[in-house]
Amino acid sequence: MADTEKKSLFSAVQPSGAVTIGNYIGAIRNFAKLQDEFNCIYAVADLHAITVRQEAAVLRRNTLELMALFIACGIDPAKSVLFVQSHVPAHCELTWVLNTIAYPGELSRMTQFKDKSARHADNVNMGLMDYPVLMASDILLYQAALVPVGADQKQHLELTRDLAIRFNNRYGQTFTVPDGYILKDSGARVMSLADPSKKMSKSDENPNGFVTMGDDKDTVIRKFKRAVTDSDADIRYDPEHKPGISNLLTIYHAFTGKSIPEAEAEFAGKGYGEFKIAVGEAVADALAPIQAEKARLLADKAYLGEVMKKGAEQAFRISRKTLSKVYRKVGFLAGE
Ligand code: TYM
Repeated sequence: MADTEKKSLFSAVQPSGAVTIGNYIGAIRNFAKLQDEFNCIYAVADLHAITVRQEAAVLRRNTLELMALFIACGIDPAKSVLFVQSHVPAHCELTWVLNTIAYPGELSRMTQFKDKSARHADNVNMGLMDYPVLMASDILLYQAALVPVGADQKQHLELTRDLAIRFNNRYGQTFTVPDGYILKDSGARVMSLADPSKKMSKSDENPNGFVTMGDDKDTVIRKFKRAVTDSDADIRYDPEHKPGISNLLTIYHAFTGKSIPEAEAEFAGKGYGEFKIAVGEAVADALAPIQAEKARLLADKAYLGEVMKKGAEQAFRISRKTLSKVYRKVGFLAGE
């Protein structure tokens, strides 16, 4: 299919610390798979990351690491546009315009805003509240039809759609109204290993709750061995009654490609201890080549620099086109 006939797709991940296997299963793992079917545009969302306090040197390091991880997870910079959000000024520029049609009421109702405000009570800043408007700008600038994300981003996508429709109604057709591309299975919401009623999150105070993409084999297996399950003995997928075991089956499925019924059959009659170690080994074995490739890329700063530069140029061109249209529609005088 010619590139012009393909639909566009956008997604981003924040460089705010360790990336978990939840981020991988719910989002990043799918990015590479979508590259042939869609015009894919992927960003490292550093502008979003500063809505909570970041150490400058650490943020720079995490940004580069996430770039390398994206490529190690199969994003091919020759096929997809891969860039750092702050390198492309249109993201902030469109945010300003969209702010004029976004309401404080709808932003303060966002679950993530409420959660983060509670967790960072000493730093409830305007950026934290405006986070979803910046996210809408990311998506709408590229006229993305689809947005591959985990289930926790659903509310932000709804807001993106509302803003696109609101703008189009007020100023005439400008933006593609995007749809979420959210996994239908439980991979859309990987749960904490320490408390399977909670989402797996890198900001969990209990490090046993999450596995990061950088964890070594011993750490991965230790965390899975400690995973909270239930007191029966059968390894069966039943998220309502057996959330811990079901979560482990989901993770096993994601990392081995075996279906859930296949996994259930494989472990029929076996104990939880054996199952947990098998899941840990499958995850560690799948992470090892990704970690090695990421380390190789991080040692080649010149290559990463070139990827970022080319990606920013491509993203600049696409985003300018949309931004110019927006500026014209709202009545800004042409500057050039
Ligand atoms: P972030 O960095 O918090 O998370 C990156 C992606 O990982 C998904 N995710 C999960 N999926 C399954 N199970 C989990 N436990 C889990 N935890 C996280 C998230 O849904 C996300 O897809 N706001 C975005 C970043 C962003 C963005 C965008 C995304 C900025 N601009 C535009 C899409 C389009 C975020 O919080 O990502």
